[in-house]
Amino acid sequence: MSPFSAPKVLTTMTLSQLFLLSTYSIVMHCCPSKATVQPPQTTEMVLYFQDFLLGPTPPSSRSQFGTVFIADDPITETPDPSSAMVGRAQGMYVISALDASSAQAIFSIVFTNQAYNGSTLEIQGTGKQLERVLEYSVVAGTGKFRFARGYATFETIPMDVSRGYSVIQCNVTVRHD
Ligand SMILES: *[C@@H]1O[C@H](CO)[C@@H](O)[C@H](O)[C@H]1NC(C)=O
Ligand SMILES: *[C@@H]1O[C@H](CO)[C@@H](O)[C@H](O)[C@H]1NC(C)=O
Repeated sequence: MSPFSAPKVLTTMTLSQLFLLSTYSIVMHCCPSKATVQPPQTTEMVLYFQDFLLGPTPPSSRSQFGTVFIADDPITETPDPSSAMVGRAQGMYVISALDASSAQAIFSIVFTNQAYNGSTLEIQGTGKQLERVLEYSVVAGTGKFRFARGYATFETIPMDVSRGYSVIQCNVTVRHD
């Protein structure tokens, strides 16, 4: 044996011990947080917005770039306006294409029903005005819907055109904590 073999072995052992130690510390750091991670829940719901076009704005302004519509629609459990209240849809729609073909929607679903009272979902996106079904993103939420992400479809059911009254069927699919 050369006089240098002993230090070499020591060095090798030290390196492998160091490697073992660092692996051990990674495992120790990984495990506790892994145990607290919950798989996200998925919630699906079908809601009905009772939409009345009120105020001085004539429907023809739907064809003008930059027009802003502010909405505060009651949301019910069925298309019937006298069915149980779920909450309100509060926010705005802006005609956002130069040729007025699409609108930007930014609004909150503010829940007031027993199951989700005080919780909200944030809806955002662009949609073609004349499409039968529009799809917007669900970008966030509060309360029962913290960390929400998903999508919502909107289909208008005309009810009373002369009064500017329609019901919008809204199907929401969200993943949340
Ligand atoms: C929702 O919460 C508000 C305020 O906390 C309360 O006044 C109301 O009764 C609640 N509604 C339901 C349906 O639980
Ligand atoms: C929304 O859900 C209802 C009830 O499940 C269904 O009949 C309808 O086709 C759905 N709408 C869209 C656009 O997926």
